[in-house]
Amino acid sequence: MVKKNTCVFISGQGTNLRNLIFHSRDNSFPVKISLVITNKKEAHGINFAKKFKIPYVFIDTTFNNYDNKILLYLKKYKISFICLAGFMKVISKNIINKYQGKIINIHPSLLPKFKGLNTFSRMLKNKEKKAGCTVHFVNAKLDSGNVIIKKNFNINNRDTEITLKNKTQKLEYRAFPEAIIRIFRNI
Ligand code: GAR
Repeated sequence: MVKKNTCVFISGQGTNLRNLIFHSRDNSFPVKISLVITNKKEAHGINFAKKFKIPYVFIDTTFNNYDNKILLYLKKYKISFICLAGFMKVISKNIINKYQGKIINIHPSLLPKFKGLNTFSRMLKNKEKKAGCTVHFVNAKLDSGNVIIKKNFNINNRDTEITLKNKTQKLEYRAFPEAIIRIFRNI
């Protein structure tokens, strides 16, 4: 199987990146992580790129032409698929147009509920019964593209923002690779 050259975008811990790297080492997994892009120099996730000898690059997304820089790197590494794994910056239309239907994002809520930031505190405030994660295609609107997979769990009255985050991330580690397999099985 020819694996798709994939770039993972991160801003923080990179535990989803680590999980995707782990899955990509399986011959039957459809993607190869060929590049990691971060917009935070101090992102802990960079360590996973280093550890597994994956090229990585820091792009300062506060500069105007940052998306052209990103596109140059994507070209250089022949990237045909992009995973946003905790990338805390809205992707520019320029990149979305060039990678139409080829960018997916993982979000820590059951979309369309709780788009954007601070999902767990808003869920608790709203007395939600269920939490979970969603993997979806990225379009020009925030957290609004077609859903590929969702996974949920019941919230109990002892849950806090921290327990919700931990439980959600456990589901994310199953949902992200499953979504990728689903996409490429259908092509
Ligand atoms: C993940 O839980 C992901 O759902 C969330 O950031 C976390 C990154 O964790 N993404 C968003 O909130 C995007 N709006 P990680 O860096 O350990 O993979």
